[in-house]
Amino acid sequence: MQKLDKRIEKVLFTKQQIDAAIKKAGKWIDKNYKGKKPLLVGILKGVVPFFGHLVVNIKTDLTIDFMVFSSYHGNVKATTEPKIVMDLKNDIKGKDVIIVEDIVDTGKTLSAVVKMLKRRKPRSLKVVTLLDKKDSRTVNFKPDYNCFVVPNHYIVGFGFDYDETLRNLPYIAILKKEIYNKNLSTLKGAKKC
Ligand code: PRP
Repeated sequence: MQKLDKRIEKVLFTKQQIDAAIKKAGKWIDKNYKGKKPLLVGILKGVVPFFGHLVVNIKTDLTIDFMVFSSYHGNVKATTEPKIVMDLKNDIKGKDVIIVEDIVDTGKTLSAVVKMLKRRKPRSLKVVTLLDKKDSRTVNFKPDYNCFVVPNHYIVGFGFDYDETLRNLPYIAILKKEIYNKNLSTLKGAKKC
């Protein structure tokens, strides 16, 4: 068994549990998009491991594209939409779009992204997430499919970062408090506590 990183408090989901959950998500997409050719839109960059695992677990023909948004972690007001840093290459008009995200936390990012993409008139638009931090919601948002519900802790691994590190852990875990307390005020991910 892999040695646990010393910055980790507790593993929430092992690689095996993540693999099984993503397989199920792939099946959900196959079932719901039979005969269609969905466009999977990954919101970079925490989504990278989830996105990569998810697409190879989908049998239905699909296409992929990516977007980058400015982070909410900072002084952006709740009423402000996140700004597009990198837009889609594809026109989504008339397409069956699935937004793929790593986490719904406050819900601000996804509710704004959905609103933004709906204006481009896709035929359908659904949201699939790896994690749902249900207790952190400040706006009303519910993903169409979610792999795991997580408690309100600082989550790292499998794409989730601590100050841009730890994204490469093969499991999803809770970061030790003493690690993020050290420089909490300067961290972009401080809201994940
Ligand atoms: C994370 C995550 C979502 C957003 C969710 O992005 O990927 O986009 O926060 O938070 P919300 O529900 O409170 O809006 P982050 O800005 O950390 O960027 P990253 O994906 O590059 O890590």
